[in-house]
Amino acid sequence: MKQRILITSALPYANGPIHFGHIAGAYLPADCYARFERLLGKDVLYICGSDEYGIAITLSAELANRTPQAHVDFFHEVNNDLFKKLGISFDHYSRTTWHGHVEVVQAFFNDLNAAGYIEPKVENHLFSEEENRFLADRYVIGICPKCGYDKARGDECSKCAASYEATDLKNPKSKLTGSSLILKPSKHWYLRFDKFKDELTKWIEKKAWKENVVNFAKEYIKELKPRAITRDSAWGVPIPLKEAAGKVFYVWFDAPIGYISATKEWAELNKKPESWKNYWLDPKTKLVQFIGKDNIPFHTVFFPAMIMGQKQPYKLADEVPANEFLMLEGRQFSKSDGWYIDLSDFLQKYSADQIRYALASNAPENQDADFTWKDFQMRCNSELLGKLGNFVNRTLVFIKNNLEQKVPYKKHLEEIDKAFLLEISLSIDAAKEAYSHFKLRKASQVLIELAQKANIYFDYKKPWLLVKDHSKKDELNTTLSLCLDCIKALSLIAYPIIPKTALEMYEMLELKNFLEKKWDEIKNEVIVVGSKLAEPKILFRKIEDKEIEEEILKLKACKKEVNLPTSSFTELKNSIAFDDFEKIDLRVGQILKAENVANSKKLLKLEVDLGFEKRQIVSGIAHKIKADTLIGKKVIVVANLKPAKIMGIESQGMVLAAGNEELELPSIQNLPAGTIVS
Ligand code: MF3
Ligand code: ZN
Repeated sequence: MKQRILITSALPYANGPIHFGHIAGAYLPADCYARFERLLGKDVLYICGSDEYGIAITLSAELANRTPQAHVDFFHEVNNDLFKKLGISFDHYSRTTWHGHVEVVQAFFNDLNAAGYIEPKVENHLFSEEENRFLADRYVIGICPKCGYDKARGDECSKCAASYEATDLKNPKSKLTGSSLILKPSKHWYLRFDKFKDELTKWIEKKAWKENVVNFAKEYIKELKPRAITRDSAWGVPIPLKEAAGKVFYVWFDAPIGYISATKEWAELNKKPESWKNYWLDPKTKLVQFIGKDNIPFHTVFFPAMIMGQKQPYKLADEVPANEFLMLEGRQFSKSDGWYIDLSDFLQKYSADQIRYALASNAPENQDADFTWKDFQMRCNSELLGKLGNFVNRTLVFIKNNLEQKVPYKKHLEEIDKAFLLEISLSIDAAKEAYSHFKLRKASQVLIELAQKANIYFDYKKPWLLVKDHSKKDELNTTLSLCLDCIKALSLIAYPIIPKTALEMYEMLELKNFLEKKWDEIKNEVIVVGSKLAEPKILFRKIEDKEIEEEILKLKACKKEVNLPTSSFTELKNSIAFDDFEKIDLRVGQILKAENVANSKKLLKLEVDLGFEKRQIVSGIAHKIKADTLIGKKVIVVANLKPAKIMGIESQGMVLAAGNEELELPSIQNLPAGTIVS
């Protein structure tokens, strides 16, 4: 029987659009793995869904002035649509508000309760007198008890990933109003995670997971304490106890159970309502759970403990390939600070395969990675287009123009041909090895290196010369035949990462039904000599410098500076006559060059275009603004200031800047350099 593989990706909160960081962490790696295992002929089920309960949702719904239901309906659709556009091949994308979810969650609780793992406790909780309600952890911010980060959330620290109770925070405050909070008693139900210490320790011991995942889990297991699994809220799965009216389950209790209920929904929709059991209850099924590193404790400690404590023989994770974070141009993605890229915008300009490749080749597998626009452009232009696309195109165009667009034959193989064939075969095996260990960086590298070697082979053989010499006909055919074999291999290796392009490549060889074949079948498939090839198509478009510069400017323009210090205002200067003001000639200037002045922390030497002439201006902003962020910016220049020497360098004007602690340059977006500012 086929091996069953159950793959899950962390259920994203339906409170905002997913971004590159999520995709690189939990969705693209899972999708590539699912596609790969399907290609090996495994019985793969890939499950995900929206995480729709919890205080993160009510909080963001409240901020957006919507009901929680309307809020999750909206973002469920948004994310479902983005996943489709990105080609994430879920077998089912469910939601935790699906009605069948309640029963599964409550059964967990009832079992755990009957087994003595649940204890009610009346305890002090954070209460806002101003809002007259208990504030759940997400409504609270304060100082992290572990690392001292001062904007730590109520349940976990976004800086050090510690997870704790909101009452452990130092100096807790309401996130919505900023008011201080008091402690007030309320009854809640606690899960005795501490009782699972030994069983968890034994279980995790045998896992050959990434070192950081195992270490993180082990640290957690050492310190296990009972944790409240209920909350004062109306939005969530209700507690199946009379005395718990008005309370719901903590979202991290219900959400991971969502993996199971989502599989049940899939089975129902498939009209085989029992088929979910093949995946969750069969010990031979391999369960692989893809997550970002902030989710490690929940998937390697809390959820496994919940499973251990209830009665169904649900599978525990066999693999938890957790990824690190992806940053954006050196900073964490943050929608609220304007530091993000709108995915649906992005997907209108660039293809899913371009972003899939860029994220895979720079995946945050063993350390945080950084998405930069320049890197994206380089991956797309010099790797995808320059190496892969170029090889496919030059081969197929050559055959079209010189060999009647028919599949060439092979004759005598020279050493170099044999070496090339071996290279192809080894690359296929290396890619297989990489995919089966979730190594997308490696797989991308194998892909591009093979394309590169193929180009070298093509250049070495010089078919454009062979074609001129009739006695070289066999060599010409052999060469091009090997190139076609290589295109087929490239499509196989590429498929998990860039599926659309891979199928296009494969079909340009006039081969069919890729998805019905298996890895080895495609590897060994023979392209029939003499058959007619399809029309060569261009696989990738070039991304121009101008586009990338615009993207960078756009990103920097919407960046909000966080935490501006409140300063006391300086007294106003004496008033001046309009005539006095008129003496100042302000102009729009575009910064062409910016460099730090040697031996000065503060000074930048700028070259500024005023339209009618270029100026050298020395500006005292280097300690606050990085030189290279200024290039291309249009700023306001005092254009008739008498030239002066600053540290021996002539300055022919002044650039206006606001602020003191934090500096910002007033900038002009659209008008040309030289325009008068008045
Ligand atoms: N919604 C959570 C997050 O975005 C992940 C939930 S994963 C699950 O961090 F296991 F709870 F489903
Ligand atoms: Zn911390």
